[in-house]
Amino acid sequence: MHKRSFLRTAIALGLLGASGLTMAQDNVFKIGLILPMTGQQATTGRQIEAAARLWMAQNGDTIAGKKVQLILKDDTSVPDVTRRLAQELVVNEKVNVLAGFGITPSALAVAPIATQSKTPLVVMAAATSSITEASPYVVRTSFTLPQAAVAMADWAPKNGIKNVVTLVTDYGPGLDAERFFKSRFEFNGGKVPEALRVPLRNPDFAPFLQKVRDLKPDALFVFVPSGAGAAVMKQFGERGMDKAGIRLIGTGDVTDDDQLNDMGDVALGVVTSHHYSAYHPSAANKKFVADFQKANKGMRPNFMAVGGYDGMRVIYEALKKTGGKGGGDALLAAMKGQIFESPRGPVFIDAQTRDVVHNIYLRKVEKKDGQLHNVEFDVIKDVKDPGKTK
Ligand code: PHB
Repeated sequence: MHKRSFLRTAIALGLLGASGLTMAQDNVFKIGLILPMTGQQATTGRQIEAAARLWMAQNGDTIAGKKVQLILKDDTSVPDVTRRLAQELVVNEKVNVLAGFGITPSALAVAPIATQSKTPLVVMAAATSSITEASPYVVRTSFTLPQAAVAMADWAPKNGIKNVVTLVTDYGPGLDAERFFKSRFEFNGGKVPEALRVPLRNPDFAPFLQKVRDLKPDALFVFVPSGAGAAVMKQFGERGMDKAGIRLIGTGDVTDDDQLNDMGDVALGVVTSHHYSAYHPSAANKKFVADFQKANKGMRPNFMAVGGYDGMRVIYEALKKTGGKGGGDALLAAMKGQIFESPRGPVFIDAQTRDVVHNIYLRKVEKKDGQLHNVEFDVIKDVKDPGKTK
């Protein structure tokens, strides 16, 4: 008798426990945020995490009756680790969305998992054009290298730059930057006598820069991933290349706001093309920068932060629209076609390509109030990714 009632109680408790768990699960909306928090790309992880947490602090963590839970994982920017973490998040944690992805190989490694599990994959950092074509579940809020590189290839020849050596990091985004810069620049009458590529892991820019010095082009066009710009700038200055009359141009990754202020005067006058500057003079951006700095001991947000912040907005809006019903497909549908004002300016998530459409700005590094900034002086509005084949 005693034994039986114990059993009954235990079963009752067990059932209660299980249904309690199910209820809790139903009311939680999980975002698996995979970022490089350590290793070579750690600044990207730090910027995006800070931006995602700022978004949640500003917008709350209960949306459409669901408690939003951010599950942060460090992939150390090793694609095999990214894949394993994504698998665990989908299978064990049953996340509703996968997000983050600091470098292209990490985003590509996870694309098949998104497709198989019908989980929207919000790319907040990686920027090779083809990523959105790797899975119909990819939505991108960062940018694409062709968007930025083409703008520079149009600006340079109109500004006395006819002969350019390119120097890019030897993987997806670098190859996109090289290809789209070169073909557009040559179309515009420019010449590219050399296209140099440096490895992604532990790059040594010195021998490449020496070669550029010997070639003496009008300008050196650079793409390096966020975090590597300061090293390029330092060695460019140490070799006296600016004094030798070689200009430095590139996509805005090289004058990354995360590092720019510490680059010193060698960065002054460097012209780049990009979608975001922390100095963008809109009210929305001023508030974003002020709030971000307040929450992060004065850290200046960079273009990675804005990709993370806008990615959270896209996820929140999709959750609001669907009420969390209908699973990954409904969420994905609600992400497509969103239009909003970002700290970078107007943003549109193209429903066909799932890629970001935004302004590309031409910017020059100037000193303002004693700090180095990317100061915008021209804009090309609503730029779609020129790399899309369809
Ligand atoms: C990328 O790996 O796609 C990537 C990383 C850093 C950047 C741009 C692109 O600044």
